[in-house]
Amino acid sequence: MRVRPRRNRARPAIRELVRETRLVPSDLVLPLFVQEGEGETPIASMPGHARLSIDRLVHRSREALGLGVPAVALFPALAEELKDPRGSQSTKPDGLLPRAVRALKRELPELLVLTDVALDPYSSDGHDGVVIGGRIDNDETLPLLAAMAVAQAEAGADLVAPSDMMDGRVGAIRDALDRAGFGEVGICSYCCKYASAFYGPFREALDSAPRAGDKKTYQMDPGNAREALRELALDEAEGADWVMVKPGLPYLDVVRAVREHTSLPVAAYHVSGEYAMLRAAAANGWLDYEACLMESLLALRRAGADILFTYGAIDAARILRGR
Ligand code: PBG
Repeated sequence: MRVRPRRNRARPAIRELVRETRLVPSDLVLPLFVQEGEGETPIASMPGHARLSIDRLVHRSREALGLGVPAVALFPALAEELKDPRGSQSTKPDGLLPRAVRALKRELPELLVLTDVALDPYSSDGHDGVVIGGRIDNDETLPLLAAMAVAQAEAGADLVAPSDMMDGRVGAIRDALDRAGFGEVGICSYCCKYASAFYGPFREALDSAPRAGDKKTYQMDPGNAREALRELALDEAEGADWVMVKPGLPYLDVVRAVREHTSLPVAAYHVSGEYAMLRAAAANGWLDYEACLMESLLALRRAGADILFTYGAIDAARILRGR
């Protein structure tokens, strides 16, 4: 036989040399949940993750940074009594999230801090936008998102990350940031975010499931890929600095399509349900968590993602560094 593909797989050194896609800790963003008070509250469906007090958040972020993970993405877990229909806590300068951002920036100035822009952690309706007469009102929501982003920028966020899927929000946020003097704060847009059942554990973590209805009037239909390119074009025109596809593995085709249609950095979010599946199978002895995590992340890179949001960021960085 003249042609033997196996020759390029024969030894570890050859496999290293011919490998097309690599994963490094600096590809990773670690999502973290923050809560008031002391200590931490475990999240049953996300073993290894908990709602962290601000001091524990700093501790965990320091661990990630020490392993070469450059960024964290923050989500606040608010007490029910602080939630209201317009998510008014989200613009308070001394709210939980701004205090968490300030603590991280003080203790770990070189860490990149991303903050989530959407109403759901703050909303008594559990929706990403304002609910008016049973509908999610797009245009009433935009100024609230813009004000939230400015409050986060004031606290020191490096990039704000709108995950709400309201039309026009990237532009509204960009304008508000610029007007407030935050021209250097970036926007990581959850550009192609699908109405996915894989967000279940995240909603448990924040107790943020919609109180009525679902998110299908704003998040994308899982059957649609062409529509992702439409969202991409809009977010680019409105000033997004990074674009994201979410969830991850079930949407590799979308990651690839977005990669081929933009020169912006593309992120993919290996979401809470994807993480929970690996942990649950591993807890049963059915899968090897570490091997499956690394394979999942590599697949997202291969599909074209530059930046990977993963709850396994610390585990992956440890594995990559042989620790
Ligand atoms: C909501 C938001 C969600 C996630 C990030 N931001 C859930 C949702 O849309 O209900 C999900 C992340 C995950 O599942 O890991 N703005």
